[in-house]
Amino acid sequence: MTSKNILVSGASGLIGRSVCDALRRRGHTVRTLSRRHGDVIWHVERGYIDSSAFDGINCIIHLAGENIAQRWSAAARARIVQSRLATTRLLMSEITRHGRKIDFICASGINFYGYDRDDKLTEESPSGSGFLAELCCRWEGAITGSAAAELLADAKFIRTGVVLTPEGGALKKMLPIFKAGLGGPLGWGHQMMSWISLADIVRIYVRAVEDNTLTGAVNAVAPGNVSNAEFTRALGAVLHRPVCLPVPEFALKMVFGEMARETVLANLQVLPQKLRQLRFEWKHPDITTALKAMLQ
Ligand SMILES: NC(=O)c1ccc[n+]([C@@H]2O[C@H](COP(=O)([O-])OP(=O)(O)OC[C@H]3O[C@@H](n4cnc5c(N)ncnc54)[C@H](OP(=O)(O)O)[C@@H]3O)[C@@H](O)[C@H]2O)c1
Repeated sequence: MTSKNILVSGASGLIGRSVCDALRRRGHTVRTLSRRHGDVIWHVERGYIDSSAFDGINCIIHLAGENIAQRWSAAARARIVQSRLATTRLLMSEITRHGRKIDFICASGINFYGYDRDDKLTEESPSGSGFLAELCCRWEGAITGSAAAELLADAKFIRTGVVLTPEGGALKKMLPIFKAGLGGPLGWGHQMMSWISLADIVRIYVRAVEDNTLTGAVNAVAPGNVSNAEFTRALGAVLHRPVCLPVPEFALKMVFGEMARETVLANLQVLPQKLRQLRFEWKHPDITTALKAMLQ
């Protein structure tokens, strides 16, 4: 394997920190791109990026983006969208300026497929509706539709499911409630949840860097989709805690608005077709294995 020189945006985030560590352990050279504390600094609103950012770089991993888990006020929506589109456009214009072939690996979400689908979703499935679906389409489109797209040696979109780790994200927020014996399904609990462990999403990014047969859109989820009720039971069992009554859907919508409908209440059964074809081996293929490894 040839080691690569990789520029990582959003390297300070939940996924980014572990991806950078894993890439370094594999012998790649990693340069972090951040608004504040990176090896390289950018000010996206001003269209500024350190001119040395791309020196020697042959791969970009673009993870930066305003966190989705907040109430979607008009200002928050604008930040969520702009932090992904403006950053991508800035990276693409730098690629044009350098005029050198480069691999581009970009985060995306399974929300590309919408938030309420009964069909099983592969990478070939059409996009769905909703704020996040539109965002993911525009985000991926900011790369494929850019004039600089022809300079990309490869473009990969990691359509990520709910990342599970006690270190952050959804699971970290749920843990104190479940540990207190107060956890319960969200809404009716019938909604299908497509998730991935942090360890496996990191291994998928590493594979995307090292394997040029993994290309285009990639559904980054575990093969073992579960309903929210099944997830709740598995979490209760692993923590040896009872599971309570469901949290009513109206309450979630009242507190979190549309964000709840498109995230915790989303019903998406996403299949990792491409990863299966490439014989990717999940460390945590099913929810009980994943939760036990993380929490016991
Ligand atoms: N975690 C999940 O479950 C999940 C699921 C699907 C998709 N994804 C996507 O995968 C990517 C990485 O996820 P993550 O969980 O690691 O995210 P995260 O922990 O929220 O970190 C994202 C990083 O993006 C940068 N950032 C935050 N707000 C920004 C803004 N307004 N403008 C520019 N940069 C900003 C920050 O880096 P600096 O402060 O260093 O600039 C931050 O560390 C995200 O784009 C996310 O949408 C995540």
